[in-house]
Amino acid sequence: DSARVVVVGSFNVDHVWTVATLPRPGETLAGHYRTGPGGKGFNQATAAARAGAKTSFVCALGDDLGGQLAHALAVADDIDLHDLPSHAPTGTAGIYVDHAGRNSIVIGPGANAELSSDFVNQQASTIAVARVVLAQLESPVAAVEAAFAAARTAGVMTVLNPAPADAQAPPSLLLLSDVITPNETEFCAQLGRHTSQQVDAATLAAQDDDTLHALCRRLLPHGTVVITLGAAGCFVSHADIDLHNDARSHYRVAAAPVQPIDTTGAGDAFNGALAASVARRGDAAFADHVHFANRYAGLSTERAGAASAMPHEADLRARFGA
Ligand code: RIB
Ligand code: NA
Repeated sequence: DSARVVVVGSFNVDHVWTVATLPRPGETLAGHYRTGPGGKGFNQATAAARAGAKTSFVCALGDDLGGQLAHALAVADDIDLHDLPSHAPTGTAGIYVDHAGRNSIVIGPGANAELSSDFVNQQASTIAVARVVLAQLESPVAAVEAAFAAARTAGVMTVLNPAPADAQAPPSLLLLSDVITPNETEFCAQLGRHTSQQVDAATLAAQDDDTLHALCRRLLPHGTVVITLGAAGCFVSHADIDLHNDARSHYRVAAAPVQPIDTTGAGDAFNGALAASVARRGDAAFADHVHFANRYAGLSTERAGAASAMPHEADLRARFGA
C-alpha cells in the first residue's frame, strides 16, 4: 500500500468566535460564532484524503458527541480511522479571530493527551505499509516517537510538523524526522531549543537564502526543512538532494495568489497536501510537491473553517487550472 499516508495526531471540536478585537481581562464581547471539526491531526488527515491519498488517522477520542462527529466525518472522507477510545472528553479548541485575522486559541487536549505509544505500536502494521507518516505536536511526544520509530524501521518517510510553537520536540524525535515543516515562529522556537542560535521571526524573515539554509542545516543536519512563510510561500533546505529528486539544496517556492478569508488550518492544509503528493507521485521532484501543497493551502484560506475548509483535488484544478 505504498501510496498511503498515515497521520498520527489530534482531533478537536473547534469553537470559533469572530470578534472586532481580541477580548481583554474583564471584558465581555459579542462575536459571530461557528463550530466545526479541527485539531491539527484531523485537519492534516482530511487534507491528505481530499488531496487524493489513501489516508489512515491514528488518534484518541472521547465517548461523546465530538467522538461521534470524528467517526462520521472519517466515513464521509474515506479516512481509515484508528481511534483509541478514551474516558476523557474529545479535544476542544476555543478560537477568537479578530478582523485583522489575528487569533487567540485555548486548547482543551482531553482525549488527545491519552494517545499512547502502546496504542500507536499496535498500529505498526498500518504504518509499515505506508509511504509517509505525518505527525504534529498536539499529541504526546511518546506517541509520535513510537510512530516515527515504527516508520523508520519499515523505511517509511517521516514528516514532523512541529506545531504548536510552544510544544517541545526532543532531539530524539528530530533524529527520527526525515522532513520538518515549521512556520517561522516554530522554526525559531525549535532553533532556540536545539542550538545556541536565538533568532526571532522578524529577523529570520530578513535573512538571505544562504543564511536560512545554514540555520536549517544546524537544526536538522540529516534531513529536509520546509519553512512555511504564509503569503511569502516557503523555503526548502535539503541535506540530500538525491533523496528527494531535487536539483538544488535550497530554494524558495512562491505561494499561490489567493484572497484569504480564514487562515485557520492553512499550515495543516499544506502538510496534508505535501504528504499526499509525496505518497502519490513518489518520483516527482520535491519542489513539485511543495508547489502543489502551496496551492492547496492557499485555496483552503479562501474558505472559512479548518477541516471542513480542505479543498478536493477537483477544486484545485477549477481554481488554478491543471
Ligand atoms: O491548526 C489549526 C488547529 O489548531 C485548529 O483546528 C485547532 O483545533 C487547533 O488545534
Ligand atoms: Na480556512
